[in-house]
Amino acid sequence: MKALITGITGFAGSHLADYIVENHPDVEVYGIIRWRSRRENIEHLEGRIKLVEGDIRDYISVKKVLEEVRPDLIFHLAAQSFVPTSWRAPQETLTTNILGQTNIFEAVRELGLSPSIQIAGSSEEYGLVKEDEVPIKETNPLRPLSPYAVSKIAQDFLGYQYFMSYRMNIVRTRGFNHTGPRRGEVFVCSNFAKQIVEIEKGIRPPVIKVGNLDAVRDFTDVRDMVRGYWLAATRGEAGEVYNLCSGRGYKISEVLQNLLSLSRAKVKVEQDPSRLRPSDVPVLIGDYSKFKERTGWEPRIPFEKTLEDLLNYWRERI
Ligand code: GDD
Repeated sequence: MKALITGITGFAGSHLADYIVENHPDVEVYGIIRWRSRRENIEHLEGRIKLVEGDIRDYISVKKVLEEVRPDLIFHLAAQSFVPTSWRAPQETLTTNILGQTNIFEAVRELGLSPSIQIAGSSEEYGLVKEDEVPIKETNPLRPLSPYAVSKIAQDFLGYQYFMSYRMNIVRTRGFNHTGPRRGEVFVCSNFAKQIVEIEKGIRPPVIKVGNLDAVRDFTDVRDMVRGYWLAATRGEAGEVYNLCSGRGYKISEVLQNLLSLSRAKVKVEQDPSRLRPSDVPVLIGDYSKFKERTGWEPRIPFEKTLEDLLNYWRERI
């Protein structure tokens, strides 16, 4: 069996490759890679995965990759995934996320392939959630507050539409926040962890820059998240959509306190106005019972362990 991962050099993609290599040795793992992509997240997998050059924004190259690999499973994780970038460059976010996915679907169709495809949607799709709608179920209205969220809704609904129109085996996941080692430094937990480690090492004055600390997010360890992606593709019901989350909400101020409690650094907290967003989703806490019922999935790694691993990741790198 062959699995193709888009976004394999990224955070979730590299962890998914680790998961498949370790747990499903009968599966050949392929990844799409752009020629200028950084490879540090997958260097340790050299010889155990196969990389094929391509760019999801370019239909011809997507078709060439799919023709060469002919995958049984596709995990579509490549995306512009940082919410603030989507206000600075909405066109780029919409192109990469929506057209990128359409290129994959069209190439699958044109080549007559029938892989199971997992689409990485996001809790950002829910956007403005009302107090009485928490924990959020898949049936909740979608009220997007960023171009990124709109792009993920488009991906999500294209997944539904291609299933309905062509009976393609598409399973949509709505992943809530996830973090852990290798997380890009712009995302909140990783950003705070990196600043704390820089303060520990004396290369940054003891002041942590932060954005909106009042937002509430539901965090899952990336290693649990990618196990969920695997289960979605292999045991999810085609055409369906599933929340992947922990069901527990943390205020971002709590996340900061948790990280600080794992360090000896003494810090002052300072708000940096450039970190505030035109509209920030106030609360995201999910309900994963639909996915649990179908696949048995539950997150296993406690948030404290995830944060500790993240701090240690930065301690090793800085
Ligand atoms: N990045 C960042 N940096 N966020 C901060 C900061 C800061 O200094 N201070 C506070 N925050 C707040 C943000 O305003 C937001 O409310 C929350 O921390 C989380 O921010 P991010 O880590 O950037 O993630 P996100 O929630 O915007 O989006 C992530 O989760 C989505 C799933 O809900 C991304 O991983 C998306 O790709 C993903 O779809």
